[in-house]
Amino acid sequence: KKLPKACIGANPRPVMNTAVIGSGVMGSGIAYTIAGKGTRVLMTDTKPEFLARGMGNIQKLVYTGLKSHALTRKQARETMDRIGTTAENVPLHRMDVIIEAVVEDMAVKKSLFKELASRCHEKTVLATNTSALSVTEMAADVPNPERVIGLHFFNPAHLMPLVEVIVTKHNTPEVIATVVKFVQSLGKTPILVQDRPGFVVNRILMPYLLGAVQLAETMRDPWALDDAMTEFGMPMGPLRLLDEIGFDVALHVEKTMRDAFGDRIPRSTLLTSMVHAGMLGRKNGRGFYRAFGSKAGDQP
Ligand code: NAI
Repeated sequence: KKLPKACIGANPRPVMNTAVIGSGVMGSGIAYTIAGKGTRVLMTDTKPEFLARGMGNIQKLVYTGLKSHALTRKQARETMDRIGTTAENVPLHRMDVIIEAVVEDMAVKKSLFKELASRCHEKTVLATNTSALSVTEMAADVPNPERVIGLHFFNPAHLMPLVEVIVTKHNTPEVIATVVKFVQSLGKTPILVQDRPGFVVNRILMPYLLGAVQLAETMRDPWALDDAMTEFGMPMGPLRLLDEIGFDVALHVEKTMRDAFGDRIPRSTLLTSMVHAGMLGRKNGRGFYRAFGSKAGDQP
């Protein structure tokens, strides 16, 4: 496949060993995607129980793949064999690409990158799966900022074809070419985007989703919004999509977008109240919909 203009003449480096930091919704999905396409991946998290939950997500994906005949038994076994896990601060010198998918918090991501840089090779590409935060700022304390880049996968990572490659002024053509080829090797379509709040997809999507939340606040039957938008032609309604994203993640993205765009971002207190009430969406079975798809307002 052709490489974009920004990397013409550059030699992409081979990607044989990868690590994914954070084994939540996105980290586990990205690790499964990488392993499924033949590349080794080490998935890390801060506690063994979080890793066990991440591996549980991956096992569900493998099971679904087997049931639908998208995967053979051999492919399933080989995919699982390519995934390692650790909750320790192991050396990462062999890694060609490391993708972080930890909580959407600038301070956490900044200190994580600084720490990762001290544990890997100076050429290891450090990628962030951030939804909306500045990649340039994340690279501020990294000794070689040219290797810090955004790789924004969408949820569910194994199914969504688009990956935003967020390019900063520091990135070399070689780094851009390496990640573009890597994304293509995963069977996905990379698009190069500038480092600005929400990049391209969330810049367009978040005002739509938050507009739906604002409307939902005033409606007796907010689920009618999902019916309307699917009839309109969207593959799923905005409330169901927010369940998939996770209310905590959506709230972080809302903050970044409001800091950047002020009142152009629809205001509502509903997401905040739901997070305070312990509702996180599909990941803990408490969203606009219950687990198994029934509306949260329905009698169990
Ligand atoms: P999540 O809450 O499901 O998972 C985060 C994981 O990171 C947790 O397992 C947590 O224990 C772990 N973690 C936290 N600090 C860590 C550290 N220092 N080292 C290792 N692990 C650590 O969150 P989710 O939804 O997977 O989001 C992760 C990132 O991906 C965020 O930046 C989010 O904005 C972004 N993202 C989320 C999407 C979504 O639809 N949920 C879509 C695209 C991007």
